[in-house]
Amino acid sequence: MVRRPSGEADGDRIVPCSTHRGTASRPRPGTARHQTPPRTPPGTHDRDHSPARGCLIQSDDETRVSAVYYYDFLRQVHARLTPQAYLEVGIRNGGSLSLSRCRSVGIDPAFSIRSELDGDFAIFRTTSDEYFARPDPLAATRGTPFDLAFIDGLHLFEFAFRDFVNAERHSSPHGVIVFDDVLPRTVDEAARQRHTVSWTGDVYPMLAVLARYRPDLVVVPVQTQPTGLLIVTGLDPQSTTLADAYDEILAEFRHPDPQPVPDAVLDRLAVLPPELLLESDLLDVLAAGRGQTSAELRPRISASVARTLGQGFVPA
Ligand SMILES: C[S@@+](CC[C@H](N)C(=O)[O-])C[C@H]1O[C@@H](n2cnc3c(N)ncnc32)[C@H](O)[C@@H]1O
Repeated sequence: MVRRPSGEADGDRIVPCSTHRGTASRPRPGTARHQTPPRTPPGTHDRDHSPARGCLIQSDDETRVSAVYYYDFLRQVHARLTPQAYLEVGIRNGGSLSLSRCRSVGIDPAFSIRSELDGDFAIFRTTSDEYFARPDPLAATRGTPFDLAFIDGLHLFEFAFRDFVNAERHSSPHGVIVFDDVLPRTVDEAARQRHTVSWTGDVYPMLAVLARYRPDLVVVPVQTQPTGLLIVTGLDPQSTTLADAYDEILAEFRHPDPQPVPDAVLDRLAVLPPELLLESDLLDVLAAGRGQTSAELRPRISASVARTLGQGFVPA
């Protein structure tokens, strides 16, 4: 379901986390995977900051645990990609929005900005569905397509799915779309009916949907703290594949609770350490690809992915 990395990149060996956590077993009610994660320490981001359980990168002479917080990862993506237009669905207090320095569109029906913003922001107090139903969703960027988007709104599968379809339609071919919360740590955390402090909801089926329906995309889950990010690039703004299959995708991939989270997701198999993506030249290839068509960019993206992330992530 999840495309696997080759396991070899730059001399480092990617080791599935389960290797270091004992045997991986299917989650059942009452097991550790159904336990509510610990409460967030006061004064920090309101997601859980439990100890890093990141995948290990083993080199000949060192072993390091990936414990990159998602803001730190996103900050570096902004710096390397140097987007001209940024979209964020779900801005809440402005924490992740404040990482942007370009013309930025923030959408949230219930935001309360507390972070300092330094840039050119257009903020809409509405839902993403309402925003994208407007006659011209790019009016706020004066027609510039998004070259970086962060999907972090309502964490229910169908909402995240529609946010992706709408974001890709209004993205540039060298753009990157990032989903938050694709790696729930427990079945409870992935529930559609929220009953935990830390909540990913059921965004995780996007991994399987993109693998099945959009093998033309580069889809890379990264093990950021606390609950992972999904990096998607090689975008095709003209593609209607997902929109055309909307009903059949919801029928197959939207499940009632308890969520059937695959073991590969819970055990972080086929998930890259964020350092590996940041050390690769993929973001530089994308930044240099500004103005190119999807067809022109595709071979460059594929070459970078094969060289630095592994053959398993190369798009079809
Ligand atoms: C997890 S918070 C966003 C956190 C923020 N991205 C950050 O990392 O600093 C999710 C936000 O999505 C917003 N939201 C809920 N439903 C939404 C919808 N339909 N469209 C857009 N945003 C939505 C909520 O109001 C909430 O503020």
